[in-house]
Amino acid sequence: IPVDPFDLIIFGGTGDLARRKILPALYRRFWAGQMPPEARIIGAARAAHDDAEYRAMIRAAIGEFVAPEKQEPATVDAFLERVRYLTLDARGDDGWDALCGMMRNGVVQAFYFSVGPGLFGDLAERLHRHGIADAESRIVVEKPFGHDLQSARALNATLAQHFDEHQIYRIDHYLGKETVQNLMAVRFGNMLFEPLWNARNVDHIQITVAETVGVGGRGDYYDRSGAMRDMVQNHMMQLLCLIAMEPPYAFESDAVRDEKLKVIRALDPVAPGDIVRGQYGGDSGGPGYLEDVENPDSLTESFIALKVHISNWRWKGTPFYLRTGKRMRARTSEIAIVFKDPPHSIFGVQERQKANVLVIRLQPNEGINLRVTIKEPGPGGMRLVEVPLDMSFKEALGPEAEDIPDAYERLIMDVIRGNQTLFMRGDEVEAAWAWTDPIIADWEERGDRPRLYEAGSSGPEDALMLMHKDGRRWREVKA
Ligand code: BG6
Repeated sequence: IPVDPFDLIIFGGTGDLARRKILPALYRRFWAGQMPPEARIIGAARAAHDDAEYRAMIRAAIGEFVAPEKQEPATVDAFLERVRYLTLDARGDDGWDALCGMMRNGVVQAFYFSVGPGLFGDLAERLHRHGIADAESRIVVEKPFGHDLQSARALNATLAQHFDEHQIYRIDHYLGKETVQNLMAVRFGNMLFEPLWNARNVDHIQITVAETVGVGGRGDYYDRSGAMRDMVQNHMMQLLCLIAMEPPYAFESDAVRDEKLKVIRALDPVAPGDIVRGQYGGDSGGPGYLEDVENPDSLTESFIALKVHISNWRWKGTPFYLRTGKRMRARTSEIAIVFKDPPHSIFGVQERQKANVLVIRLQPNEGINLRVTIKEPGPGGMRLVEVPLDMSFKEALGPEAEDIPDAYERLIMDVIRGNQTLFMRGDEVEAAWAWTDPIIADWEERGDRPRLYEAGSSGPEDALMLMHKDGRRWREVKA
């Protein structure tokens, strides 16, 4: 079903994110027939280009980032007809009157701030001063939303001078991932899991987001952030919230976000002994972290593992183990809910059954796997084995699931639809920083040095110990 007609203005329209993600996502939605004929996209940036040059740039981006079978020339041409370019100075006056003249009445207006947070205030203020934005306009802002609580508060305050919370769409692209939304479907669309989803039945939870890429190319940003700010404060926090939250009364923006906020507020501070940070070393396949960021003295982590406790009735006593890192063995993201052992084995000690494990694979090969105990076939008596009930969404759903949309497709369309459910609210972001800040301050104060780990491994040895000392073990990082 096509969305309502819209004018989407992309500030930073020639930037990397626009080229790699935003414009290819818009093209794919156009290809899928979701964009009404009146939809229009305006890329704005400081460089002087005309429409033809900008369209050529987008054509190249589509060529690079969209599947070849979706690139029929006529479709690409038709898409590019909707695209315009505007030279505009975010910090000056050039271009703003022209933008004002281009805006149409009676269509959805969305402004995508695909620029550094340092420009958010300038853009917001000019949109108002020039009479471009009104009380219904929407703005989209990217992560990082601040560097700590103080800067996030300042950003929220700046945006709030010109826009109401219902107009602000803070992106965390993990929320746009198909399987992340599936997490909610699995939890709240089945009767099977929810009654067991608590500290009485769940031994612990593991959340792993492992990447094979390093930080080369964006070392400057990364070295000032580290895995805690880059991944844990936002993406992993969102995953944790969706697993831990109470059922919202409806799948509706404030209902969901209220529940997530309660989880964040219930997070305990993390003890220094429950955190392991690492930096990857170099190998034949590439430089190590310190070379990648060109800072031989860097104390920033490219890997982090931590044990997190939630102090509420549902989760008290069940640890959440989180780990994420660059240059690890495989690119894999998954959530594992490890249930408790059965209280008593009727089959004798040597036939102790293992715990049930529910694994939600976010990427690659999205799906669900449930480990259950059954009897080994044969006449040898009651021998128990574990087998996986394994469901790959692709296999289960067929061609429908072959073509899983990119997170940005879903999120941008939600902006046009005016649905904030999968976007972060200001108080949520602040609460996440309020939890993160003291943890970081603590290791900075002590001058902690991250542990070296081998590129292509599953992280530093100490991360394994984090679990071993609790009598538990991480699931293997494998593709
Ligand atoms: C980004 C981080 O937000 O998410 C990157 O800044 C990280 O460091 C990326 O690589 C991971 O996203 P995805 O979708 O590839 O899992």
